Amino acid sequence: MAEPLRIALAGLGTVGAGVIRLLDTNGALLAARAGRELQVVAVSARDRGKDRGVDLARFAWEDDMTAMAARGDVDVVVELVGGSDGPALTLARNAIREGKGLVTANKAMIAHHGMELAAAAEAAGTALRFEAAVAGGVPVIKGLREGAAANAIERVYGILNGTCNYILSTMEDSGADFGETLAAAQQLGYAEADPTFDIEGVDAAHKLSILAGIAFGSAIDFAAVDCSGISRVRAQDIAQADALGFVVRLIGSADVDSTGAEPKLYQRVQPCLVHKDHPLAHVDGPTNAVVAEGNYVGRLLFQGAGAGDGPTASAVVADLIDIARGETGTPFSVPVAAMVAMDKAQSGHRTGRRYIRFTVTDRPGVLAEITAAMRDAGVSIESLIQQGRPEEGGEVLVAMVAHEGPESGVSEALRLLEGSPSLTAPPLVMPILGA
Ligand SMILES: NC(=O)c1ccc[n+]([C@@H]2O[C@H](COP(=O)([O-])OP(=O)(O)OC[C@H]3O[C@@H](n4cnc5c(N)ncnc54)[C@H](OP(=O)(O)O)[C@@H]3O)[C@@H](O)[C@H]2O)c1
Repeated sequence: MAEPLRIALAGLGTVGAGVIRLLDTNGALLAARAGRELQVVAVSARDRGKDRGVDLARFAWEDDMTAMAARGDVDVVVELVGGSDGPALTLARNAIREGKGLVTANKAMIAHHGMELAAAAEAAGTALRFEAAVAGGVPVIKGLREGAAANAIERVYGILNGTCNYILSTMEDSGADFGETLAAAQQLGYAEADPTFDIEGVDAAHKLSILAGIAFGSAIDFAAVDCSGISRVRAQDIAQADALGFVVRLIGSADVDSTGAEPKLYQRVQPCLVHKDHPLAHVDGPTNAVVAEGNYVGRLLFQGAGAGDGPTASAVVADLIDIARGETGTPFSVPVAAMVAMDKAQSGHRTGRRYIRFTVTDRPGVLAEITAAMRDAGVSIESLIQQGRPEEGGEVLVAMVAHEGPESGVSEALRLLEGSPSLTAPPLVMPILGA
């Protein structure tokens, strides 16, 4: 058998400790598949004394994780620390500069610096892999980059954040409101103490920007992702969606808009109504799922655990097996020099049905005001529901479904209603994803 692949592991938290456990449990199987042993030689984290449930005494310890890049006894550095910049990025840059392979689960770093790191890896002739950065244990990068490589991908979209999906599907089951469900999710470990990145869609946007780069060969452009999260979704929205035959899911969606002279990149993360017959409607709890539509293969669905020590370690170690086998290739689906920088696509002309919910004061004339704004903006209303009668002087929810039409019409209607004393909060618009 060939010489072992020697690994330095930075970060011994959920994923890092999971990687060590996986390597210990499946060692013989991995060596057989990789053709050589996968051998950790050095580890690093902040607190050397912390009990992580794995035996670390057999590995060299580095207090400064960035020093691992310079170790002569290491072939591959695995970065499982997190953060788009800071020590994780320094370690990544140093490792590649030293000609070492780099494996990371760090979607924030790849979304912000993936092109730079990939260019450096290509120039150094070394491997950069990040399967775990998108959808945790689900092999969607490999699936698109390799399995679907023969296709022009027309669209890629999916459920990219397990925390949001857990919250939305729990709200669906329990009828509870967002705040209450988030608090319960935090207690159960499904949401972080500071959940902002997850619930406001930033984490999903990181993953979407990486997926778009892989799917379309476009330059990664995280800043161009339009992003809104789930914190404004109410229990009544979910109940209303249910009555109409839909569930609410946070969907990240990307495609190339070829309607103009130059192709443009459309990337958006937002809560959507998903028809109950669509495969994404059945993705519950912390699960992730990605749909890719290829021009020859048709619709592909990748689904599975998007987080957790075991599933994420599974993706990290799969990358290590590829490197051990010498199967590296370019980090993205095409070399960095061939990745096309595309302008951001505007969304006004995109057609579809939309769910629009207003919170209004309970007084006569409000419905007429809303429907007049819709009429003046050319938006045709398919159904309109006023939800219940609140106590004296309270707030009423008015939900409607707009017929198929351009997004610009709904935007114009909302502009006409801006500043209206009838509205107690900004309206919530959710596109409708058919079956
Ligand atoms: N958790 C998941 O399910 C999951 C899924 C997909 C991707 N990821 C990504 O995987 C990465 C790791 O996530 P995680 O959940 O394992 O995080 P975590 O549990 O918070 O672990 C982070 C680790 O990094 C170490 N660390 C932090 N700052 C450090 C520094 N300056 N120098 C050295 N070590 C440092 C910590 O050390 P101490 O333990 O000593 O504090 C800890 O061991 C992140 O990029 C995350 O986005 C995670």
